[in-house]
Amino acid sequence: MKVAVIGTGYVGITTGVTLAYVGHHVTCVDVNPAKLASLKAGKAPIYEPGLEELLSLAAERLAFTDSYAEAVPEADVIFIAVGTPPLPDGNPDLQYLQAAAAGIGEHIGEGFTVVVNKSTVPIGSGNWVDALIHEAFATRQGKLFQEHLAVASNPEFLREGSAIHDSLYPDRMVVGAEDQRALEVLYTLYRPILEQTFTPPSFIPRPEGLQAVPFIATDLTSAELIKYSANAFLALKISFINEIAALAERVGADVTQIAKGIGLDARIGTRFLQAGIGWGGSCFGKDTAALIATAQDYGLSMPIVAAAREVNYRQRERIVEKLLAELKILKGRTIGLLGLAFKPNTDDLRDAPALDIAHRLIERGVRVRVHDPVAMEKARREHPHLALHYCETPEEVAEEADALVLVTEWAMYRELPWEEMARRMRRAVLVDGRNFLDRAQMAALGFRYVGIGLNP
Ligand code: NAD
Ligand code: UGA
Repeated sequence: MKVAVIGTGYVGITTGVTLAYVGHHVTCVDVNPAKLASLKAGKAPIYEPGLEELLSLAAERLAFTDSYAEAVPEADVIFIAVGTPPLPDGNPDLQYLQAAAAGIGEHIGEGFTVVVNKSTVPIGSGNWVDALIHEAFATRQGKLFQEHLAVASNPEFLREGSAIHDSLYPDRMVVGAEDQRALEVLYTLYRPILEQTFTPPSFIPRPEGLQAVPFIATDLTSAELIKYSANAFLALKISFINEIAALAERVGADVTQIAKGIGLDARIGTRFLQAGIGWGGSCFGKDTAALIATAQDYGLSMPIVAAAREVNYRQRERIVEKLLAELKILKGRTIGLLGLAFKPNTDDLRDAPALDIAHRLIERGVRVRVHDPVAMEKARREHPHLALHYCETPEEVAEEADALVLVTEWAMYRELPWEEMARRMRRAVLVDGRNFLDRAQMAALGFRYVGIGLNP
């Protein structure tokens, strides 16, 4: 099939490249010239494992352009994957969605086209996009008949850092539409993934036992609400375990054992029960705020979701409190942060706890040294005013530091020469914000090891 993808961010480029890989012809549209230049040169504009390899494998079925006129008229399916960043009141900023819908309306062909909201968008956005497309079409050439267009919602559940894996092997595919034809077209489009008929790339093998992916067909509004509900639920699972972690510390228990002890109950599940610094990233914060804002529009409150947010953002301050408890005085100290990205295997810094913690420490007069294997250049570019001392190696971060905080659990941090790290530090205090390192080993190397929710 012929596919257009509007927006080549984390979601758009992953969607485009995986659909091309399984056999479709995909044209990706973006307004960012630097991204387009990079993609045209076969280079991934973001750090995402496997993306560049797949770009190369699918190259002959992929095109990149800034022109809606090139991508839209011929497309059978058009995905909207533009950003929906948060506004100060919690609602998402829909200006990019609006521009994308208008661009589609101006150029849509007169064959049957399915326009798919893949961006995470508020309830009612499907209807709004439909209206915007009709409006933009009308200014060009009169009435666009309903038989030519169907709008669907196909929320995206990929995780950054494993985006390609999650797109080729999703747990489920949710598609919401009022028009049965849209469901049929999208089933056909996704058939290779739903029925797992494609040959897996050698570097991202198919999970053992996966034969078919459930296709969940819903109405438009339910699909929109499924996305927000999924993210809110995952977010509150993490906040729940972080709340338990605080109590575990006080009573002398170990939250990692508690997570296992409750998680092996199949009704609870072990995943997303890792206590730590809490969630960051572009979506949990934004989507929980948007869910609460939507509820308010309908005269409802969402106390559970609101509490999950409160617990999450308090967790960052708790890191500062732990440092204060160890060092007694923060002003004038040097503290090293290992990891800037909001999670490993990505360079994404949106709502990254490391930046927030760095900011809090700098405000208290701390000199902050940082290292991240991939996100430092982006941090310099996107946060030029944050007074961080960037270090090329983790060893350099340790130099004369009064404490280290492990913020992002990059695999490489497990392999560091920790003995040497301790020697370089003024005080060998290690706050492991992800309970990632071997506590006994660190203690044996002379570290004062402080985890999250562990028996002190
Ligand atoms: P992003 O900011 O990385 O990318 C958005 C892209 O859209 C940018 O490249 C931008 O230049 C482009 N764009 C903006 N306006 C445009 C226009 N008018 N025409 C063409 N392109 C335009 O965003 P993202 O992280 O990929 O997220 C996109 C959407 O998907 C959001 O709604 C987000 O909530 C949702 N989502 C994101 C993730 C994730 O892990 N990042 C996962 C699931 C869902
Ligand atoms: C999350 C969801 O997992 C995806 O399903 C969803 O598509 C995406 O948001 C989105 O809508 O953008 P992502 O933010 O990429 O994906 O990464 P996650 O693996 O979910 O991690 C989110 C944050 O939670 C990270 O900061 C991570 O460190 C933290 N986390 C995760 C924990 O603190 N504990 C855990 O047990 C799991």
